[in-house]
Amino acid sequence: MTTKVITIPSTPFAGQKPGTSGLRKKVSVFSQPRYLENFVQAIFDTLSGQEGQTLVLGGDGRYYNDVAIQTILRMAAAAGFGRVLVGRGGILSTPAASAVIRKWRAFGGIILSASHNPGGPDGDFGIKYNLGNGGPANEGFTDAVYLRTQSIDAYRTVETPDVDLGRIDEVNIGDMCVSIIDPVADYAELLESLFDFDRIAALLARPDFRMRFDAMHAVTGPYAHAILEGRLGAPAGTVVNGTPLPDFGDGHPDPNPVYAADLVAALADAGSGLSFGAASDGDGDRNMIVGRDFVVSPSDSLAVLAANHALIPAYAAGLAGVARSMPTSCALDRVAEALGMACYETPTGWKYFGTLLDAGKATLCGEESAGTGSNHVREKDGLWAVLYWLNILAVRGELAEDVVRDHWRRFGRNVYSRHDYEGIATAAGDRLMAELRDRLPRLPGSECAGLRIKAADDFAYTDPVDGSRSERQGVRIMLDDGSRVVFRLSGTGTEGATLRVYLERYVADPDRHEVPTQEALAPLVRLAETVAQIASITGRQTPDVIS
Ligand code: G1P
Ligand code: ZN
Repeated sequence: MTTKVITIPSTPFAGQKPGTSGLRKKVSVFSQPRYLENFVQAIFDTLSGQEGQTLVLGGDGRYYNDVAIQTILRMAAAAGFGRVLVGRGGILSTPAASAVIRKWRAFGGIILSASHNPGGPDGDFGIKYNLGNGGPANEGFTDAVYLRTQSIDAYRTVETPDVDLGRIDEVNIGDMCVSIIDPVADYAELLESLFDFDRIAALLARPDFRMRFDAMHAVTGPYAHAILEGRLGAPAGTVVNGTPLPDFGDGHPDPNPVYAADLVAALADAGSGLSFGAASDGDGDRNMIVGRDFVVSPSDSLAVLAANHALIPAYAAGLAGVARSMPTSCALDRVAEALGMACYETPTGWKYFGTLLDAGKATLCGEESAGTGSNHVREKDGLWAVLYWLNILAVRGELAEDVVRDHWRRFGRNVYSRHDYEGIATAAGDRLMAELRDRLPRLPGSECAGLRIKAADDFAYTDPVDGSRSERQGVRIMLDDGSRVVFRLSGTGTEGATLRVYLERYVADPDRHEVPTQEALAPLVRLAETVAQIASITGRQTPDVIS
C-alpha cells in the first residue's frame, strides 16, 4: 500500500539552532504550525541514505510528546524510512532509545525530550537526532540541520489517521511499518548483562538495607519499577513518583539537592530507616546518588565508579580509558593516574564522548551535571549509574557515604560545587562572558580577591579521533594549588541565559575532608564574583541553584 506524499509549503523560523543537547524551546513555540515540521524536515534533508532504513522514535512523555510523535511518524513515512520502532505510548527514555538504536542496528533515532527542564503546556519541549551508533549527532550534523532550517521552503508528510500507540503492535503507514515496542525490555536486558543482578537482589532483600528511588514523575518510573522492583525484587514502594506525568507533577525533574529535596531530606532523617537513595531526571539519563545524610557529588560519583570498576562484571577486565567534561572535577583524573588509565577532557555535552567510546579509547564517561555512562550505550544513563552503585555496595558491604569517604582518603577530595544564575538577561550573560574573555590575557600571574591566578583560557577541544575542533567552550581560571573556577553559559535553557560557575578545590588532608563544601569554596566564590563582575552585570547577588 502506498500513501501519497504531500508537500506543504513553509517558511523558515529563526532560532532553530540545536544547543548542548538538541533543540529546546517552550511548548508554545514548538506547537506553532509548521515549527516542529520544519525542524524534522531539516533533519531528514540533512540525512542521506535513509530510504528503507529503520528509525527509532520515542520521548520522555512530556506534554506535546503524543502530538509530536504522530507528526514525525507521518513525516518519516514521507521521507522513505522502511520501519519506525516506537516505544509504546510514545515512551523511550534517552538511554533506552540509545540501546534500542544499537540493538536493532537502526539508521538513527529521534528523541523527544527537554531532559530535566519542566514540562506541561507552559513548560519546555525538545527534539534531538541520534546517529546509528546510538549517540547524539555531532556538531557538524547539528550545524548542517540549523543551516537547512534557515532556507527551508516546504515539508513532506502523508495523510493518515493517528496510529494507536497504546499496545505492542505493527501497523503500516503506506510502505513504512510502525513497530510499537515495549520501551523497557531491550534496555532492561542490556543492564542485566552488565551487572551482578543476583548480588544486587541479595542486597535489596536485606532487612537492614532500604532503598528509595525517586522517578520524579518522569520517564524512569516504568523502567525503575520493572528493573528494581520487578527483576531485582526490591519491595514495592521502593520506587516513588513512578508514574510519568506530562507535566511531571508540576515539578522540575532535575535530580539535584534543590529539586529532589524530599529525597535528600528522607535520607537525612534517621527515622526513615533508609540507607540509600537515588533519583533520575525527565528523560532518564541523569542520576543522583544519596547516602544517609550525604549527597554524593556527581563528579565524585564518576570517580568512585571508575575506581571500583573491578567489582562490576562488565568492567572487571579493565577500562580502556575514562573521560569527563571540562567543568567536571578532576577527581576522575586522580583515579586515572593512580590506575594508569588514559583520561580525556571534553567540552560539555554528551555528544563529545561518542567518538572516544566508538574508538574504544574510553569505557566510562561523565559530567558534573549528574550524568555518567559507559560504552554500553551512547548516552548518559541514570539507572545504569544506580545499578553500578548498588553493585559496588553489594560487593563491598558498605553504604554509599562510607565508599565516598574511603575514596577521599585514598585519592584526596576535590571539593566541588556549581552555582547557577538562571534566567538572566541574554545580553547580560553575553556581556559577562565577552568581558571575561577580553580580560583573559591579563589574568595569568595577577592576583584577584587575594588569590594568585596561574593560568586562564577559553577551553577549546580537538577531538583526538576525528580531529574536529570546538572553540569557546568555557572560560577557565586556574590557581597554583590546582583550584579552578570555570564560567560558561548554558546551552539548554529556553528563557534568557543561565550562567554556570563551576568551583573546585583539591583538599589532600583527610582531617579537612569533612569541611562543608560551600565553606571550603568561599574564597573561590569571591574570586569568581570579582573577576566576572557577576553582581554588577547580572544584578544577581546569589545563585538560584547550588549543586
Ligand atoms: C547541561 C549540562 C551538561 C549536559 C546537558 C544535557 O547543559 O551542563 O553537562 O550534557 O545539560 O543534559 P548546559 O545547560 O550546561 O549547556
Ligand atoms: Zn536528561
